[in-house]
Amino acid sequence: METTQNPQVLFSPIKIGNLAVDGRVFKTATAETRATKDGFVSDEVIEFYQPIAQAGTPLIITGNLYISRKGQSTFRQIGADNPDKIPGLKQLADMVHQHGGKIFGQLNHCGRQVLPHTLGIEALSASGVPDKALGTRPRPMQASEVSQTAKDYGAAAAICREAGFDGVQIHAGHGYLICQFLTPYTNRRTDAYGGSFVKRLRFLLEVYSQVRRQAGEDFPVIAKINGSDWLPGRKGLSNRELVEIARILEQEGLNGLEVTVGHYESGGPMIRGSFAPFFKGLTKEGLVDSLPWLRKTGIKMAWPAMALFCNTLWPAKQGFNLSYADNFKKRLSIPVICVGGFQTKDAMSRAISQGRCDAVSVARAMIADPWLYRHLKENTSGPVCNFCNGCIARAGSLPVDCYDPRIRKQKDAMLAGAGQK
Ligand SMILES: Cc1cc2nc3c(=O)[nH]c(=O)nc-3n(C[C@H](O)[C@H](O)[C@H](O)COP(=O)(O)O)c2cc1C
Ligand code: SF4
Repeated sequence: METTQNPQVLFSPIKIGNLAVDGRVFKTATAETRATKDGFVSDEVIEFYQPIAQAGTPLIITGNLYISRKGQSTFRQIGADNPDKIPGLKQLADMVHQHGGKIFGQLNHCGRQVLPHTLGIEALSASGVPDKALGTRPRPMQASEVSQTAKDYGAAAAICREAGFDGVQIHAGHGYLICQFLTPYTNRRTDAYGGSFVKRLRFLLEVYSQVRRQAGEDFPVIAKINGSDWLPGRKGLSNRELVEIARILEQEGLNGLEVTVGHYESGGPMIRGSFAPFFKGLTKEGLVDSLPWLRKTGIKMAWPAMALFCNTLWPAKQGFNLSYADNFKKRLSIPVICVGGFQTKDAMSRAISQGRCDAVSVARAMIADPWLYRHLKENTSGPVCNFCNGCIARAGSLPVDCYDPRIRKQKDAMLAGAGQK
């Protein structure tokens, strides 16, 4: 294991399958809430990614793309559900390629993590276990719907390939549909898709196999997976079980893995930071008003106490998933990407130099400073995210952006004033 810290490691190439990527700091997925209402890439989507691409960011992973309308999670989400989405997705891929970067589409079906009435769809899941965060009661999927959904993932991957994307990421984390099949707490099935570890894994393996079949053996395919389900008191998956799942995926031919944490029901481990601005944003401009009455009223009354609780449990921390990534790194040969709180060159290069991961990925720090990659490379600085969580509070209701007024002002001035370097 390399122990000397080498900042240049961030700018050294890495291979994901047969794809050469020109550096090791990636933009991770952030739902855009910028598509047209029918899920097409719009100018607002391009505007969000342009400065990130212009800064030389080696790999951009899109926000989660719905693989079918039945799996749409939020308003103004981008879809990869139909070939009519290809021209818009191609425009996005072309823009990123013009700047020398690579782009992966994140494929997702939300399962029970949705407010179905806001989208006019039905919530589906492995079993009828209600989601405690949203109050959504899903309908258990029939076996034929499960196998059709795996095919939909494959078709969405083929759409991304056709649009010129460099690869796809299967979203197997954060409590979405694939997680709902993997996790005993949410999967109570007694058929071929539930019960034992092997049966709960079956849906993910079908998804992977369909993605390979429809997008091609040579197409780079990675997954985002929890390092821990973080469901205390419920039957969530442990790090040991999740590493075992990753090992099986590697044997099947997966090309890389991004390590994250938690379901919606977990609370805040996925977005460690400050929670008062999060709850304020959520109640003022987020999706709170779309929640069932009891939940909405509860949050509006109790959010200051909830924020205090979350602040104590999940304060901001750089590399907060590294302790999980360590165990993936020990057991896997494919690249392990770690997401979670990264912001400084020091913390990122230490994580890689110490052999805890092969690359890092960044969400909030790149929303605040889309030129972060360039700033790291040139030893300069831009707007610094304070992990207030104002952006995630508005996911699915307002376009992704920085919602801290002071930092947003700095960001807008940087992008406008300096011109597009
Ligand atoms: C506004 C916003 C939207 C997000 N949308 C997604 C998403 O679509 N898919 C996903 O896997 N994670 C999503 N995340 C989670 C991030 O990818 C990441 O796992 C998390 O924010 C921790 O990384 P960070 O500390 O660098 O922000 C989102 C996060 C934010 C802030
Ligand atoms: S709103 Fe801005 S400052 Fe707050 S977490 Fe998001 S990017 Fe960072």
